[in-house]
Amino acid sequence: MRIDALTIFPQYFEPLTLSLVGKARDGGIIDFYIHDLRSFASNNHHSVDDTPYGGGAGMVMLAQVWGLALDPLMVEDTDLIILTPAGKRFDQRMAEAFSKASHLVFACGRYEGIDDRVRQYYSSDLYASRNIRVHEVSIGDYVLGGGEVASLVMIEAITRLLPGVVGNPESLSEESHSQDGYLEYPNFTKPAIWRDIAVPAILLSGNHSEIAQWRADAARRRAEENLWTRG
Ligand code: ADE
Repeated sequence: MRIDALTIFPQYFEPLTLSLVGKARDGGIIDFYIHDLRSFASNNHHSVDDTPYGGGAGMVMLAQVWGLALDPLMVEDTDLIILTPAGKRFDQRMAEAFSKASHLVFACGRYEGIDDRVRQYYSSDLYASRNIRVHEVSIGDYVLGGGEVASLVMIEAITRLLPGVVGNPESLSEESHSQDGYLEYPNFTKPAIWRDIAVPAILLSGNHSEIAQWRADAARRRAEENLWTRG
């Protein structure tokens, strides 16, 4: 999979050298390209934004700058992801769908977002005929300073689903959100007693069918408590 990210803060993407994602990058499973949006700014001040038509607070990122940055990346079979709190909510299903993509481009807006004509332009029939799809995505109902952290969240959730990234693929099918409304059972490791709290005895019994039953019950109880209070 190839991943491009466009941002005015390339340093935000330094964590991509760490942990599983970093290893997947070293192993050639993922190719990352981080682009500094400001290098596409044409005026003397390297401006990337201007005041909104119609008035109102904040600044809007310039379509002209985004167009220059995005044009060379919009190759056949690309998913362009525009990060915005007004987008469709990101979840595990969406992560699974994007994990099958061949090329993801993350457009990280700042301020009041990107001139909407950028979304319109790359959503046209011409780009659709080249298998270029545009998605506005939000990672949750809160407002971040920009799309960078949201992109990192998405990149981690998506790339750990790629074959070869997570060492034991079985851990993917048993984890929270692997099925709708499913949260994983609680886990324990040594010692068997910590600060007077014992691990449930059944987990030490070696009885696999009873352990499976206990885990299914515990997962259901957890989902009932946590999913309901999430509203
Ligand atoms: N930019 C600002 N807030 C965001 C959010 N919640 N999701 C995606 N991009 C954003």
